[in-house]
Amino acid sequence: MQATVSSSLAALPNEVWLLVFSHLTRAEQTVAARCSKPWRILLRPLIWQRVDGPVSWKIAKTVCFAIRRDAYLASCVRHWALSIGIPYNDNFTRVDELEVIPLFVSTLRRLVNLRTLDFTQTVITLQSGMLDHCVFPRLESLIISIGPVTASFIARQPTIKSLSAYQRPSEDFWPRLGQGVPLEYLSITIRPFLQLLEHHANGDLSVRQLAPACTICIPNEYREDWVAYARRFCELVNGTGLRLAELCLPTPEYALGSTPIPSDARTSGVQMVFFSALQFMPEHEPTVAHVAKVLSIFPALHTLKYAWYSPVHEPAIGAADAALNRFSATCMTLRTVMMGSIPVWERRGGVWARVRDEDRDGSHV
Ligand SMILES: *[C@@H]1O[C@H](CO)[C@@H](O)[C@H](O)[C@H]1NC(C)=O
Ligand SMILES: *[C@@H]1O[C@H](CO)[C@@H](O)[C@H](O)[C@H]1NC(C)=O
Repeated sequence: MQATVSSSLAALPNEVWLLVFSHLTRAEQTVAARCSKPWRILLRPLIWQRVDGPVSWKIAKTVCFAIRRDAYLASCVRHWALSIGIPYNDNFTRVDELEVIPLFVSTLRRLVNLRTLDFTQTVITLQSGMLDHCVFPRLESLIISIGPVTASFIARQPTIKSLSAYQRPSEDFWPRLGQGVPLEYLSITIRPFLQLLEHHANGDLSVRQLAPACTICIPNEYREDWVAYARRFCELVNGTGLRLAELCLPTPEYALGSTPIPSDARTSGVQMVFFSALQFMPEHEPTVAHVAKVLSIFPALHTLKYAWYSPVHEPAIGAADAALNRFSATCMTLRTVMMGSIPVWERRGGVWARVRDEDRDGSHV
């Protein structure tokens, strides 16, 4: 085995091996790395590209110590989402204060090539000053809660193109987040999103701008006042001339429910609507009605996307057609309905047709 691996390794340039390895899953890469020393060395940058959890405190410590010891390993890390799985009854507070935070922070500081930083699963509470010396010159994507402690950290990351805020801040924090490259992706609850649009409507250039054809994701959130927000959203999108490539919306239980959509809530500024937690169920009347209603807000929409579609619940003949025809009745411009990443239905000559998956696979973005 050893001889085979070494001789085959010599037969191809490292770049080719890396390309081959990059198509393996993480688990497969780890197995391959155990085959021989040359493979282990070759696979290191791939294996260390992503550091994510949840892991036990023991493993987290090993990972952090390895990165702190070895600048090369630290430079390999592009994606950091390490979190510690805490047993339910653990008394974590002391460990948290004394060990985890200093270790994580001193590790983070070494990640000079970091592109994605994800704090979603971190059990530690980000505290004032903690991230003061962390600078990531190549950071592109940040997933963080926005608050007084993290605002100045975010303001020091002008390179980020993608921002996901997983907590709901109430005050308008945009002036504190500073400027930077235009955001191509923003995931944030509706109120702070509208606050950003208000800044843009006022021509305020001191806050982050949105890139042309950006994607906005509005997460699930219980609210009573979706109708008022829908109207204000349309006014602001119209007023700023914003064009959204994709608007990701909450599921019906959270948004709009059975409330009527005001007839003046209309905007041509959205090309695609994505229900990221909804399955296409053409026989489920409440969701069909909800989607049809939401589509009426977007008179220039061309694509509707569902998160998934389960062939197990294949609808009765005609049910899908009936639902899709209701959608095109409220949104004449709708051409494509997708499930997952594959376009499934397309409207041609006024008729919806299911496109065979393999016909379209890969030909659409
Ligand atoms: C948790 O840690 C605190 C601080 O050391 C201590 O006062 C408390 O008794 C501990 N609780 C348990 C259940 O061990
Ligand atoms: C926004 O513009 C659309 C046309 O694209 C128009 O139908 C709609 O009434 C406008 N909505 C608001 C709230 O200004």
